[in-house]
Amino acid sequence: MASAADSTADELSKLGINGEWTANAPPTLQKNLQLLSPDQVELAKMLVEMGQTHLFAHWADPGTDDDEKKAFFAQVAKLDQNYPGGLVSYIKNARELLADSKAGNNPFDGFTPSVPTGEILKFGDDNFLNFEEEGVKEARRAAFVLVAGGLGERLGYNGIKVALPAETTTGTCFLQHYIESILALQDASNKIAKDGCEKEIPFAIMTSDDTHTRTVQLLESNNYFGMKPSQVTLLKQEKVACLDDNDARLALDSNNKYKIQTKPHGHGDVHSLLYSSGVLNEWRDAGLKWVLFFQDTNGLLFKAIPASLGVSSSRQFHVNSLAVPRKAKEAIGGITRLTHADGRSMVINVEYNQLDPLLRASGYPDGDANCETGYSPFPGNINQLILELGPYIEELTKTGGAIKEFVNPKYKDASKTSFKSSTRLECMMQDYPKTLPPTARVGFTVMDTWLAYAPVKNNPEDAAKVPKGNPYHSATSGEMAIYRANSRILREAGAKVDDPATQVFNGQEVEVWPRIVWTPKWGLTFSQIKKKVGGSCSVSQRSTLVINGRDICVEDLNLDGALLVNSVNEAEVKVEGTVQNKGWVLESVDYKDTSAPEEIRIRGFRFNKVEQLERTYNKPGKFSLKP
Ligand code: UTP
Repeated sequence: MASAADSTADELSKLGINGEWTANAPPTLQKNLQLLSPDQVELAKMLVEMGQTHLFAHWADPGTDDDEKKAFFAQVAKLDQNYPGGLVSYIKNARELLADSKAGNNPFDGFTPSVPTGEILKFGDDNFLNFEEEGVKEARRAAFVLVAGGLGERLGYNGIKVALPAETTTGTCFLQHYIESILALQDASNKIAKDGCEKEIPFAIMTSDDTHTRTVQLLESNNYFGMKPSQVTLLKQEKVACLDDNDARLALDSNNKYKIQTKPHGHGDVHSLLYSSGVLNEWRDAGLKWVLFFQDTNGLLFKAIPASLGVSSSRQFHVNSLAVPRKAKEAIGGITRLTHADGRSMVINVEYNQLDPLLRASGYPDGDANCETGYSPFPGNINQLILELGPYIEELTKTGGAIKEFVNPKYKDASKTSFKSSTRLECMMQDYPKTLPPTARVGFTVMDTWLAYAPVKNNPEDAAKVPKGNPYHSATSGEMAIYRANSRILREAGAKVDDPATQVFNGQEVEVWPRIVWTPKWGLTFSQIKKKVGGSCSVSQRSTLVINGRDICVEDLNLDGALLVNSVNEAEVKVEGTVQNKGWVLESVDYKDTSAPEEIRIRGFRFNKVEQLERTYNKPGKFSLKP
């Protein structure tokens, strides 16, 4: 007599669904296979073979929840498609990484750290100016990539981070500032080239479901901030499946048994997206040579970009990591060369908590210690990368865009057999060099922190708890860093800019410099700025200075108050003389004061615009602003 299993097998066989795997499929799945398309049956087979039968444990008989079952397979197909090598690779990789994590294996075992080669720049000296000039020249062969898919849980801002004002003197948001900086670089680069060819610098933005729609809205409602929409490419990253245990059993959503729980995979996705979308080949075919990656809330970055790109070009770096001086043990990853006895070698970011034990295990008894410069010889990684496009494409062709991943499960207890909540694999943009051959030219460029790095990552409450001396990385410190950088740059250019005052906002003590802001097309490089600041200028601490136009020359200006100058590209304006007024007064705003907009509350201050001198030149010609 035929068994029940035999008869199911017969029925499936009639549907063309054969193979041993069906015998291993749970009855709840077997009964439902008839609902599935051939592609979906293949996916079901893959899940069964990969030990994922628990996913079907709760499936109802055909006729009930059929739409949900189809939606389940639509989701599985998407998860399969979006991962290099599909879900099979994802599950295999997860098992290996989870086993390593359980065993406490150190991924850097057997590697010896040493200091890689790089360029340490001093703002404003001849070397810096030469690199800037080279960088501007190269910019028309560059593309920019902003990773902006992060949720920003630590900041806790309700909007997307790129919509936040970088500073509130002009209210310019991060995205506007980035786009205007790229356009300024494009103009400057085209001008130097003198070949009459107006090249456009492409700009790709990686979004996620958390940020995509609002990023598109921000761009569209502001005419792409002056960039041609055709210059902008949006690439949306997808989430990856969550894992319930060390066997990498996929986790089901607690609210929907026909849905796999998903979480973000990290900014490392940018590489596979650029590769699989074909964008990189388009850029190569258009004659581009460089790809510059940057993050969502660093208002200083573009001050460091021209010189860093110049370093990439002059030193022929395939990978150039932007870095800042790092105190030993400071909570920022160090750029490190790791060499293995078996010949493997790589230059990568090593997290600060891994660097110290690695050094101690490699014959450095003091571990992560400062050298004679007063800083660690391992520069601090700020996660902005410049890659040479040709070798980048070559490498991604080998790896399919996959980046070395990691897993960080929170275990219930020391037995490490179960997790407190589901986990997933993650990957980081800066781990790209991990798979490169030892011949790859991987280096770094160190810039002063005040010039290059002031991200906005922390909410006011957490920022106020940051141990003294460590950076707040808050909206307060991010904005104040812009005023500090601009004030210091004007000082270097010869102006007398008063020392800052110290004030506390949202529990954070910050230096308050004069609120000096300029549009990127006014001062993209230091040599440009030096040409536009002349004579003997002075700016008092309580002053506000907004330079919003390309050809504005500031000469013999004595400012004590607020001065705003706007001009169109065709107007040449000379600003001179004494400007004195009541100015814009900085007032504290309590974080908890919900009557103030969130953008203001999270920085803890606002400007009371008591009195100002504002002039706008919107016609071509030469003008003089002399009060
Ligand atoms: P952050 O470290 O600031 O992470 O990301 P986050 O996810 O935005 O914020 P938290 O950790 O939840 O507070 C660094 C950069 O990488 C992008 C972010 O948008 C930011 O520019 N990112 C992060 C992505 O594009 N995708 C991700 O999955 C994660």
